[in-house]
Amino acid sequence: MTAAHRTSTARPVVVAHRGASADRPEHTLHAYEQALDDGAEGVECDVRLTADHHLVCVHDRRVDRTSNGTGRVSTLELARLEELDWASWKTPDGDAESPDADPERGRLLTLRRLLDTLCETRREVVTLIETKHPTRHGDDVEKTLVQVLRSFDLDDGDRPGRPHVRVMSFSSRALQRVHRLSPEVPLVHLVADRLPAKPIDGSLPAGVGTVGLDVRLVRRRPHVVQRFLDRGNDVFVWTVDDPEDVDLCLRLGVGAVITNRPAMAVDRVRAT
Ligand code: G3P
Ligand code: CA
Repeated sequence: MTAAHRTSTARPVVVAHRGASADRPEHTLHAYEQALDDGAEGVECDVRLTADHHLVCVHDRRVDRTSNGTGRVSTLELARLEELDWASWKTPDGDAESPDADPERGRLLTLRRLLDTLCETRREVVTLIETKHPTRHGDDVEKTLVQVLRSFDLDDGDRPGRPHVRVMSFSSRALQRVHRLSPEVPLVHLVADRLPAKPIDGSLPAGVGTVGLDVRLVRRRPHVVQRFLDRGNDVFVWTVDDPEDVDLCLRLGVGAVITNRPAMAVDRVRAT
């Protein structure tokens, strides 16, 4: 998966962003199962720490947008989060399956449950775990993450038939903490498109082999991709939901496209 390991003709890995989240409620097991059925070779998830120190797959600081509850993830305990419905916000009225028919439908996804599911596939699913880290937790997010990865034997290199985990963050400090705690875990430094004037010279924090670029930045400054590739780094691009952007990523030789629409991206990549 590193640039050094790919040839120039290698196709990018399609990574489902929060699962197949255009079609299914993000960060639910259904969204991830759909993504794998759609042919995605990778999945992305965001992790946050609950008040009682469990890692759960939730993007927002608050639960309000994606559940029927209210409040901040960091101030709620796992048991309370497990009581909430994480699917109905996405499901049109009258279209919902009965929760009795499928108890998994609206269930909170913990990182452990996601990793259990991915391990059961016995496939080398590229698993991108993005740490969202309120400062109130200090380095507890990274410490807990490394403990979880260690308990699944996913912290010391890629193995056949096992998920291939990469930890991602916008924060180089967070990545350095992970690197200190577990030097074998590959890291991805995320770069947003918020600072268009900032020079990007292709350098990455120590221990980081891959950059994750905002697709809007790649559209405006495609030469930035080559800068990282020239330095021997790999490049992932998010969030690639338009077929034209998949084509752009193919032309630029990126290692992964991270998309809410894995079925579309898989079709586009396979058509090349
Ligand atoms: O894959 C990287 C991307 O997920 C970063 O942005 O806000 O969707 O977590 P966000
Ligand atoms: Ca994310």
